Amino acid sequence: MQITMIGAGYVGLTTGTCLANMGHDVCCYDIDSRRITRLERFDLPIYEPGLENAMRRAVEVGHLRFSSKIRTSVSEADAVFIAVGTPSAPTGGIDLTHVFSAARQIAPHLKRGAVIVIKSTVVVGTAQRVREMIARERGAFDIRVASNPEFLREGSAMRDFAEPDRIVLGADDARSRRLLRSIYGTFEKIGIPMVVTSTGNAELIKYAANAFLAMKIGFINDVADLCEKAGGDIADVTRGIGLDHRIGDSFLQPGPGFGGSCFPKDTRAFAATGRQYGAPQKLIETLIARNDQRKTALARRIVKEARLAPGSKVTVLGLAFKANTDDVREAAALSIIPFLREAGMHVTVHDPKAAFNARAHLSDVTWSDCPYKACKDAAAVVFLTEWEEYRALDLGRLAKTLSGDFLFDYRNLFEPRTVARHGLRYASLGRSTIFTRQRADVSSLETWPRQIAAPGHI
Ligand code: NAD
Ligand code: UGA
Repeated sequence: MQITMIGAGYVGLTTGTCLANMGHDVCCYDIDSRRITRLERFDLPIYEPGLENAMRRAVEVGHLRFSSKIRTSVSEADAVFIAVGTPSAPTGGIDLTHVFSAARQIAPHLKRGAVIVIKSTVVVGTAQRVREMIARERGAFDIRVASNPEFLREGSAMRDFAEPDRIVLGADDARSRRLLRSIYGTFEKIGIPMVVTSTGNAELIKYAANAFLAMKIGFINDVADLCEKAGGDIADVTRGIGLDHRIGDSFLQPGPGFGGSCFPKDTRAFAATGRQYGAPQKLIETLIARNDQRKTALARRIVKEARLAPGSKVTVLGLAFKANTDDVREAAALSIIPFLREAGMHVTVHDPKAAFNARAHLSDVTWSDCPYKACKDAAAVVFLTEWEEYRALDLGRLAKTLSGDFLFDYRNLFEPRTVARHGLRYASLGRSTIFTRQRADVSSLETWPRQIAAPGHI
């Protein structure tokens, strides 16, 4: 099948490449012609593990090409996917400008019988609005609009495409339904569940899924706070609840507050849609506020617990909103670092992949290309992204590099005992205890985690 992907970003590129490797003929179009020129040289504008090799394979066998010319990209396509950004609008809803302008751009060039497939995350009713827009532009021309929301995660996008839990196909007419089914026929054959539904339901499913996943994270972050105060251990608690299959053990990792290009904007959009339809999503409204507060609270905790005076050096390791991506959109680092700067700290930062993107958002920090060098003479070090490279750091070497002895681990990368053995004071999430520097104190680890404290004794 001839497929065109409008928007060669995280979703457009990974989905386009994977569809090409399934045997479809795919053209990735982007309005940014420099991006296309780079792609033609395999100079990828994003970091996504496995993408470059898959892309090279698809191009070599002639199933994938890139273009910045709208007419030739679209005119032969059976299906035109719209995978452009849907950022937050100032009201909290989403800004559909890119989706509508993409639809307007492709409208004059679509062949009779083509189906527009909205892959971008859009609020309920958007497919219908695009349909009306196309009808205005093309009159009685036989063009359909369908919805196929995407569930991949950055950092594991290739695997998520290959092994989806389900595929959601939103169509309001038989032809669109047939076309979507044939695009994903290979998956259906191997038993991947297909949720075939209306475009409106598909749009609602996408937001409800992201809101629910974000809620799991928000919930476990609050439970982690309670564990800290009550002397509990979040790892045991998550295992204890996650083994209940009704709850499940995924998305229960405490962190510095969820970030990224999706959960923050999608929860805001979901809440705004609820308000618009008179069906308030109170849980989600609270979640959004709690998540924002968490980032500030964890920033304040660094200054307070390490008793940092203005002028102290703090090193932040990890700028990406999660590991295995170079994306810093709404990353915790972008809230925590400005707070530290305002509190008068000198901040040195490092990230293995996201430093380039972070430069547009952070000023007045010192950039480092090595985590050990970044920590030199720092009063405290803060881990914000769960890169494997950080997990593998030699803590003894790190401890010697620091001038202070505080390690804030907001991803629970290390074992408290291990950190303490290196004479560092350790603050992590959902685990009580900040160990003191003296080696003698390591004996107290035998009693860790301490007895659950009664509220009065916290
Ligand atoms: P992105 O910002 O990485 O990429 C969007 C691309 O669209 C950019 O390259 C931009 O130049 C291009 N573009 C904008 N307007 C255009 C136009 N009129 N014509 C052609 N190209 C245009 O965005 P993304 O992260 O890939 O997200 C795209 C959509 O997919 C969003 O709605 C997002 O919520 C959703 N989504 C993202 C993810 C993810 O992990 N990033 C996962 C699932 C769904
Ligand atoms: C998320 C969803 O997981 C995807 O299914 C969805 O397609 C995508 O949003 C989207 O709609 O764009 P993504 O944002 O790439 O994917 O990354 P996640 O792995 O979901 O992480 C989001 C944030 O939550 C990160 O800041 C991460 O560190 C945090 N998180 C995640 C936790 O704090 N704890 C967890 O257990 C999981």
